[in-house]
Formats: sequence, C-alpha cells, structure tokens
Amino acid sequence: MDLYQPEYININGENFRVYLTHEEIQQRIKQIGTELSSNFKDKKPIFIGILNGSYIFLADLMRYVSIPCEVDFLKLSSYGDEKVSSGQVRDLKEIDANIENRHIILVEDIIDTGLSMNYLIEKLKQYKPASMTVVTMLHKKEATKFDVQIDYTGFKIPNLFVLGYGLDYAQEGRNLAQIYILNEKEE
Ligand code: IMP
Ligand code: MG
Repeated sequence: MDLYQPEYININGENFRVYLTHEEIQQRIKQIGTELSSNFKDKKPIFIGILNGSYIFLADLMRYVSIPCEVDFLKLSSYGDEKVSSGQVRDLKEIDANIENRHIILVEDIIDTGLSMNYLIEKLKQYKPASMTVVTMLHKKEATKFDVQIDYTGFKIPNLFVLGYGLDYAQEGRNLAQIYILNEKEE
C-alpha cells in the first residue's frame, strides 16, 4: 500500500486540505539533516524528540543525518484535545539520557505560542548541556508570544490549525503522510 495521503480529510467534523506534500516535507528535512551533519561533526549530539507530535519528523530527520548521534524522548502536553493551547505545560515524561556536557538537539513538531519550547529550554538548562539547538518542523511565527531561539525551521506557516505527519487533532490524524491545514472555505 502507498503512504496514506488523501487530498482532503475530515476529522472531528472539521475539513482539512493538503498544505505541504510529502515530497516538499522530505526535501526540506533532507536539507536540515545535511546541515546538522556538518554542524555537529565530531560532537555526537543527542536528538531529543518532544512527544507525541515530533515522532515522525524526528524519525525522518535522523535518517538524513550521517554522523554519530543518539536519541531520547520527553513528553509535554499543552493542547489537550482543543485547537487552541491550554496555556499550561505539563511534564508527562522526563528524559533518561544524561545530557550534562552533551550537545543536545531539541526536535519539535511545531512552535505556536512558544510556551512549550520556552519552558523546556529553561528546564533543560539546569542539566548543563554543552549546547542546546532547537529544530522545529513548523513555526507559526505570527502566533509566537514567548521569546524562543529557533535554530532550524522546516517551514513558516500561517496562524491556522494544522495536522498530519505526526501532528494531531484530538489525537487523530498523526498517520497522514502530508501536512494538512484547516479548510476555512468549507466551514
Ligand atoms: P506552543 O507551546 O503554543 O508553542 O505549542 C506547541 C505545541 O502545541 C506543539 O508541540 C503541538 O503539540 C501543539 N500545536 C500547536 N499548534 C498546533 C497545530 O496547529 N496542530 C496541532 N498541534 C499543534
Ligand atoms: Mg508537540
């Protein structure tokens, strides 16, 4: 079977249309992977995926990285089942790796208000990593209210709800191979 990539999808009564195709996503991830491979040569970075949303992006990104590297995960929650952020970050799973003096690369699916990443950077600083680099697949630049340093951005997107390629709406839609955006016209 081919990857699951319909042109339109209805989830929870909302209509979404393709916004970024599988090819566009892969092409951009390949560029980021190549840049990371040269910038982190001889540094053996630890990729830290922020669950759940980043798992597919991280899996693809790491396969375009050609230097020794490690991976670990942590889990945060701020959205619940809604389309707007709850404004609170909860820790749901801590990292296991010892990151002291290590180069860490935080991998996020999307930076919206910036609350989660802002929180995470402050939290991980306590463990004294040698460096912290932020990679996000998507950035809703207009929605970002918190001051966050973002080192690599896959795509800047408008301030609309998106899903697919790891991102969910009330836990559904993560299995879509492309990124979909709310189809306002059909509402
Ligand atoms: P922030 O803390 O407001 O930057 O929100 C970050 C988190 O909210 C991301 O890690 C996502 O899990 C979730 N999120 C933000 N925008 C969207 C969206 O458009 N679709 C799905 N999840 C989103
Ligand atoms: Mg997330």
